Amino acid sequence: KRRRDTRTVRDYIRTIVDFPHEGILFRDVTTLFADARGFRMAVDQLLNPYAGDDIDKVVGLEARGFILGGAVAHQLSVGFVPIRKKGKLPGAVISEAYTLEYGEAVIEVHDDALKPGERVLIVDDLLATGGTAAAGIALCERLGAEVVGCAFVIELPELGGRALLEGLGHEVHALTA
Ligand code: PRP
Ligand code: ADE
Repeated sequence: KRRRDTRTVRDYIRTIVDFPHEGILFRDVTTLFADARGFRMAVDQLLNPYAGDDIDKVVGLEARGFILGGAVAHQLSVGFVPIRKKGKLPGAVISEAYTLEYGEAVIEVHDDALKPGERVLIVDDLLATGGTAAAGIALCERLGAEVVGCAFVIELPELGGRALLEGLGHEVHALTA
């Protein structure tokens, strides 16, 4: 008789040393996404805390947040809104500059992607310094939307992302450290 598979989400994630820079331990979720059981577990666990929460839109942060956020939106039967790196969205946008664990960048959202009062769930693979997520939240709020929660597969607690987002009054959920 086959043994029951007891692997958790964390068991599907691998760490790559010194990517993209020396000193960074890069959490690689491609191995999680590639596994049918792992991917389904991750998506189910991401949306679990928000069941019955009246989410209007899922907002995904480029690029890994698109893969997870698209699946979460489908499962919640709501629309998906992409927040993209500067210069990728074709329509009129609003922008936010930010810093993250290994660099700085600008992200954008279409200026008509969210309506005032819409309740959004922000989804990404990983919370490190929280710079990316805070910029994403700012974009949503500038459009008048209400950020109901921020859901991540991984959080790196020592980098302070949770403290930053909770300090801004936001609920943070992460599946694993
Ligand atoms: C990674 C990750 C998060 C962000 C977290 O994305 O997917 O979006 O960094 O870091 P922070 O909490 O310090 O802001 P990255 O910018 O590498 O983009 P990618 O998904 O397009 O590779
Ligand atoms: N984004 C920011 N820090 C990261 C890390 N250590 N691994 C993967 N993505 C990241």
